[in-house]
Amino acid sequence: MKKTGFIFAVLFLIFLFCLELFAADMAPIKLNAPDKDRGYSLTKAVSMRASAREWNGKPLELKDLSDLLWAADGINRPEKFMRTAPSYRNVQDISLYVVMKEGTYVYDPGKNVLNPVAAGDFRPLCAMTQTTVANAAAVIIMVSDLTRFNVTDKCEKIKWAAVDAGVISENINLFCAATGLTTVPRATMDVEKLRAALKLEETQEPIINNPVGYGK
Ligand SMILES: Cc1cc2nc3c(=O)[nH]c(=O)nc-3n(C[C@H](O)[C@H](O)[C@H](O)COP(=O)(O)O)c2cc1C
Repeated sequence: MKKTGFIFAVLFLIFLFCLELFAADMAPIKLNAPDKDRGYSLTKAVSMRASAREWNGKPLELKDLSDLLWAADGINRPEKFMRTAPSYRNVQDISLYVVMKEGTYVYDPGKNVLNPVAAGDFRPLCAMTQTTVANAAAVIIMVSDLTRFNVTDKCEKIKWAAVDAGVISENINLFCAATGLTTVPRATMDVEKLRAALKLEETQEPIINNPVGYGK
């Protein structure tokens, strides 16, 4: 059993190495300026918010991806680099990793660009046993940089990281409710395999994810 596990681990590393060769082909994705006038009112969005776990597999249109990421944690006060989501002491510890069929990107809210992280489809690592998640157009993973917290206790860092990630996740939930997209906040994901695939540092902690897409 242990030997089988070792062989799978080696095969997974070889698989990641092969994907690395293709990653060089991935170009940054320039996002649109946000459309701040779309969607239902906040009160109607709150009244409609509900988790759903089925997607039709179609990729997100650029305008939807752009507006979604801006609503999640974009810049809403550019003169002070302040964000749509609040964060503990404004440490802005959360990065949004966008896992799509062709590869994973990380959101740069200042430049309004998605920067390539790794080629290949890692949605199954987010799905695990919830297989429908692998059919979402994008899985947004909230990843905290724990070095941003000026506290020594790791439990406390994780506590504030979880709150910061949860706030962004709710922005995604409400944006989806307001615009007809489908999502669910999820703790489920293969954190260790995602760490390797997305080349995360030890101090980067994936907290929660939201698969997003068009419902069935
Ligand atoms: C912190 C957190 C973790 C969750 N993890 C999962 C998950 O791993 N898989 C899943 O299908 N739903 C997950 N959910 C969604 C809940 O199951 C869902 O919100 C709950 O059943 C209430 O349904 P509603 O969102 O439609 O109101 C999670 C929700 C939260 C807040």
